[in-house]
Amino acid sequence: MKKFFVACRFFFCLSLVLFSATARPAAAAEAAPSAFEAAANAEAAPAAEKHVLIVAFGTSFQKAGISYANVEKQLLASCPGVKTHWAFSAHSLLKSGPDGERMLSPQEALARLATEGVKELAVLSLHVIPGAEYSGLEQTARAFEGLPKGLEKVTVSPPLLADAESLAEVAPLLLKSLPEARGAQEAALFVGHGTHHAAALCYPALQYYLGLLDDRAFVGTVEGDMGPERVLAAMKAKGVKKVWLAPLMTVAGDHAANDLFGSDAGSWKSLLTAGGIAVETVPKGLGEYPFIVEQWLKGLKKAFLKEK
Ligand code: CO
Repeated sequence: MKKFFVACRFFFCLSLVLFSATARPAAAAEAAPSAFEAAANAEAAPAAEKHVLIVAFGTSFQKAGISYANVEKQLLASCPGVKTHWAFSAHSLLKSGPDGERMLSPQEALARLATEGVKELAVLSLHVIPGAEYSGLEQTARAFEGLPKGLEKVTVSPPLLADAESLAEVAPLLLKSLPEARGAQEAALFVGHGTHHAAALCYPALQYYLGLLDDRAFVGTVEGDMGPERVLAAMKAKGVKKVWLAPLMTVAGDHAANDLFGSDAGSWKSLLTAGGIAVETVPKGLGEYPFIVEQWLKGLKKAFLKEK
């Protein structure tokens, strides 16, 4: 029931955002429809009027697309009637899909939607931290707002680890994502991409929130200061003998397969094993867990609530 109400609130906001142009403010204030009525109206409206552009970095791994498919399925289930579009911010990864059409960059998708007459757009960011990719997306979205014959309003949802509140919420979800086979004495290690952007602070912050719940949970990064040597030392200090290694990434793509689980001597798995710690791999992207996708969707809904 609570879920239904939340979904309705989202509809209410979406419909407010999308249909505000046609509503007269004075009349609307006098006879404001309930959230349930608004949801019913929204459902009756043509589907093409509610647009969400889902933006991810992209991946070269066909199999990693399972995360993306899962996100879209969940978005459509919680907001039926929404029209979804996709864009990928890694230009080198833009390739042709099964229909022969090339994937779009955020710039291309925003320009296309504006030309097609879309006025209000929600952008669902599938980024993990508010780093360079996310700031770039925000900047792009702002640049497309208010152009003649263009988009009037573009709302970008926050990344997964947007602030202290979301870090505290995501920490238990990460622990929940691990296989039940993890024993009480066995460590958990979540390895993120890493960045030289100021948002690198998210990783030690996440380490803090995880540590409050589980003193054998660790965070590492492929790039930056939280590399395998430091994490290995921290694990040894706690007498860890076995670790469950999982990517802290939207998809389990190239970084997961090579930097984390690769067979060469420099991979996280190889270095931890060489350091005397047995490694169990968890080769799944964050987008494969419905309760983590829910967190991204919650951010999208919150972004709308703040708007109105
Ligand atoms: Co990378």
